[in-house]
Amino acid sequence: MLSGDLIFARILDQEVVVINSQHVAQALMDKRSRIYADRPYLATVEPFGWSYNMAFTRYSDEWRLSRRIVHQTFRADSALKFRPMQIRRAREMIVNLIDDPQHYHVHFATFSSSVTMSVVYDYEIVARDDPLVLLVINAMDIGIVMMTPERAMILKTFPFLLNLPDWCPGSSIKRDARISTNLSKEMVNVPFDYAKQHMADNSISSRASMVGEHLQRIGEQGEALRPVLEPALKKAASTAFAAAYETTSSTLMVFVLAMVLYPDVQRRAQAEINLVLGRDQLPTFEDRASLPYIDAVLRETLRWEPVVPLGLPHATTSEDIYDGYFIPKGATVVYNVWAISRDEKRYHDACRFMPERFIDDNGQLTDDDPAQYVFGMGRRICPGRYAADASVWSAIATMLVTLNISSAKDDDGKTITFTPEFTTGLTRHPVTFPCSISARSQMHSELVDTLRTAM
Ligand code: HEM
Repeated sequence: MLSGDLIFARILDQEVVVINSQHVAQALMDKRSRIYADRPYLATVEPFGWSYNMAFTRYSDEWRLSRRIVHQTFRADSALKFRPMQIRRAREMIVNLIDDPQHYHVHFATFSSSVTMSVVYDYEIVARDDPLVLLVINAMDIGIVMMTPERAMILKTFPFLLNLPDWCPGSSIKRDARISTNLSKEMVNVPFDYAKQHMADNSISSRASMVGEHLQRIGEQGEALRPVLEPALKKAASTAFAAAYETTSSTLMVFVLAMVLYPDVQRRAQAEINLVLGRDQLPTFEDRASLPYIDAVLRETLRWEPVVPLGLPHATTSEDIYDGYFIPKGATVVYNVWAISRDEKRYHDACRFMPERFIDDNGQLTDDDPAQYVFGMGRRICPGRYAADASVWSAIATMLVTLNISSAKDDDGKTITFTPEFTTGLTRHPVTFPCSISARSQMHSELVDTLRTAM
């Protein structure tokens, strides 16, 4: 152990450095980003078919090319273009939530994937039961559990687990690996082939998509580009699709859980909305600056139950010395978002959902924004963070305007109590829980009817 902010451990034969403070993370992963931009070797990536995912690609020219492709499409100024679509999709999600409230998690998945799918592949997800949404849900569910450094270390230490006969106890990992690989292949190839076909059909919008634009470049600049560009493009596209689904829908699950457990927060948010928008207006991004409490709710959602609690592991490409402490080359660097979000000196009563902590005495937002740490750091920082922020804001604001989210009641009208449970793995979100989702009032119900007819 070095200090509370920086912990050193050896797990099996792997050196692991855990960073528990935003300050140290910035000093190392941001300011010395060249040293900290690698990913560790994870023994589960290949067998589970996750090599397609650029988030696990080592720091290399291959990664740089995929990263550049994603960055061009999702950087701050480009992401502004998605906003009208994000608002439209949030409204479609409201209709789905009213019509079929039990499956709220599936509607979040549809919403979360829809923006990326359209931008990346020019694929318009259908409002319900889209086959690609179901595919990504299934593909991510199995793999995400296995992509943590500790699971990978188990497989690295006991690789024979992948070779056990099917009847042998412990062989389920082999079966899961097979299923995950098949699903991942489909998730990578089906939308990519769709985009290619769409291009061939000469659709103009398809050329504006991330995949379409680069395929056109290959067509114009010569086939010699294809062997390098096409695999990088496939990786970039499928990673964006998978990452956007998993993280954004997990964040919305956290938000709904907070609304069920903290009804006062919902009431205060809706009071702000009534004041600024009146009772019959749907929110747009022009309203965002006038709704500081809604932004505080978003910040608290990101902080309260961070959906990537230990970030994605980084690795060092050379040795380093920080504050007199030696950090070896090849060390796995875990960036502990959870510890930062639970720092009692910064967040009093950190386990409570309390958006007020981000509002100052003048009713304005403070300078503390968890978006500065929940999206990672340095050269591997989440390239989708601007789109993610806008997606989550449009979903949260539109839900708060139109819906009441509350505890579910049983047949006798008694509140159903429950203890929240969370998934484990690289990402973390509440397991579906009982809740009631309905229109806020008759007027909001009519508003939703107009949205339904517009769909
Ligand atoms: C609330 C939503 C999201 C959260 C909390 C989130 C969080 C993260 C985190 C913590 C990382 C690892 C950063 C690091 O290693 O330091 C990451 C990586 C990544 N994210 Fe996101 N993300 C979100 C949404 C998105 C979206 C919408 C996209 C779509 C483009 C996206 C694409 C990616 C990609 C491609 C990487 C890998 C970056 C690399 O390894 O170079 N994410 N994200």
